[in-house]
Amino acid sequence: MCGIVGILGTEPVAEDLIDALKRLEYRGYDSAGVSTVENGVLGRCRAKGKLKNLQKALNEAPLQGHAGIGHTRWATHGAPNVTNAHPHMTDRVAVVHNGIIENFKPLRERLEKEGAKFETDTDTEVIVHLISLELKKGSAPEQAVQAVLTQLEGAFALAIIFAGHDDLMIGARRGSPLAIGYGEKEMYLGSDAIALAPFTDRVAYLEDGDWVRLSRTSATIIDERGQEVERTINRSTASAMLVDKGNHRHFMAKEIHQQPEVIGHTLGHYVDLATNRVQIPDFDIDFKTLPRLTISACGTAYYAGLVAKYWFEKYARLPVEIDVASEMRYREAPMEPGGLALFISQSGETADTLAVLRYCRAQKQHVAAIVNVTESTIARESDATLPTLAGPEIGVASTKAFTCQLTVLACLAIKAGVERGHISIEQEMELVSQLVEVPRHISTILNDEHLFEKMAHGLAHKRDVLYLGRGSSFPIALEGALKLKEISYIHAEGYAAGELKHGPIALIDEDVPVVVVAPKDNLFEKTVSNMEEVAARGGQIILMTDDKEAAASFTTSSSFVVPRAHEFTNPLVFAVPIQLLAYHTAVFMGTDVDQPRNLAKSVTVE
Ligand code: M6R
Repeated sequence: MCGIVGILGTEPVAEDLIDALKRLEYRGYDSAGVSTVENGVLGRCRAKGKLKNLQKALNEAPLQGHAGIGHTRWATHGAPNVTNAHPHMTDRVAVVHNGIIENFKPLRERLEKEGAKFETDTDTEVIVHLISLELKKGSAPEQAVQAVLTQLEGAFALAIIFAGHDDLMIGARRGSPLAIGYGEKEMYLGSDAIALAPFTDRVAYLEDGDWVRLSRTSATIIDERGQEVERTINRSTASAMLVDKGNHRHFMAKEIHQQPEVIGHTLGHYVDLATNRVQIPDFDIDFKTLPRLTISACGTAYYAGLVAKYWFEKYARLPVEIDVASEMRYREAPMEPGGLALFISQSGETADTLAVLRYCRAQKQHVAAIVNVTESTIARESDATLPTLAGPEIGVASTKAFTCQLTVLACLAIKAGVERGHISIEQEMELVSQLVEVPRHISTILNDEHLFEKMAHGLAHKRDVLYLGRGSSFPIALEGALKLKEISYIHAEGYAAGELKHGPIALIDEDVPVVVVAPKDNLFEKTVSNMEEVAARGGQIILMTDDKEAAASFTTSSSFVVPRAHEFTNPLVFAVPIQLLAYHTAVFMGTDVDQPRNLAKSVTVE
């Protein structure tokens, strides 16, 4: 999603704006721009594509203003070109925007009738013209912005600077996140604390409906009722976060390799390692009497929830309803008051997930969230927050966040099983000891990473790839297909292996590789039958299993054997080979692994 940064500085800010935008690159973007105000006059520089293009454009036409705003744009309305790149401006005002103005069409029609000349296809440009009109009528910048905010529908975060005002910046938030950074005689705005980390660790988050007036020495925050309010200034840990690739070629590779460590950290938070018992801090839901668990999330986080459905139902006998958030938010699902609604989100900002959270709250559900960003909106709007301790995930393709989500969910399922009387203390200790083994199993897999390079050659340049799995391996097959398609652009689909005969088998021929996720569990033989059906039709099987004999005896085009783990922890273990397969295929194909085309890291619009 778009990234926003604003600086009221004491020296020219253009270079710092670019540095901050670099830290927001992970969110995904297709053009970028900056605008500064210098001696009262607005200047602007924009470029299509990566920030290096913007840097080049700035070198040719430098901006010297000490106050400025910057933006990385992920196109929603209008093609990703220079004209549509932010900031958008008139001679009076410059604006950067993250989100969508839903009523931009009627606003644009009205403005055009009143004589406004539009230059872009964006929804954002209406904001610029609306503010300009107010300023033209003689309003002060604060009044102008206030008047315009009331006319906008949709979700947005805005940073705005004004001609004639070198010591003023206004930010506003409805839906999309926006943070204020407090410096020494300097002030900042940013989409997240990571962007602000080089400048300050003193960060406050605007609440929904807030707007803020910044000068170099002050921040005045007004809430949605027009009241001046204080928002807590926190010490952000983002400055301690190294946003670099270490010795790895891509962030995704680094993050795959971090998994043993971060799963270990996450386990350390939820498990008493001295007793091998689960201990969930700040979580007082009583699973014993809970009638139902509702889980909602998007993408990879949804697949983590799908694995958890198998765990909660089998180990805790707890009925689970799960749906992707984009569907659940409009389904008007009836809910018995008193249920638990659980949301899973790496960013904690995903618009659809947040909308379901609010729906569930209105349905009188207890709201809990598993998030990686603890300051996020989803975390702040939940009754209980269960952090994943994955550290910042920069690669757009989720890897370590996924396995850390699974780790938290596994602990929660054990707790539910114990409280509901379906898991004895001995069984709990056994399951926890199996979880504690997971980082070691993953390290073993990572030591064999070179094997995936060869396997990836077999997948690269194929048109379609199928992924099959049964039971809790089915969501891993779905996740494998998502990983492959999003970073290699090869069409991939995941199926429950038993569904093969009900349609997808028609696709099988010698050109369609089939990745089978088949741990030696109680469903293994059934999955083997499905592999036979594929082989009989000339399909090329890539087998992921923990059964050496099966890997040796079955005719597959290639196989990878993971360490034998417990059936309960298999989803965590098998998640890693499917990540490595996707990663090496994408590297082989030369795609932009960390920032695949069209994708954004944090999806703050519908
Ligand atoms: O930040 P969230 O976990 O809420 O994001 C949800 C999805 O957009 C995300 O999991 C996405 O599917 C992955 N980045 C894909 O690898």
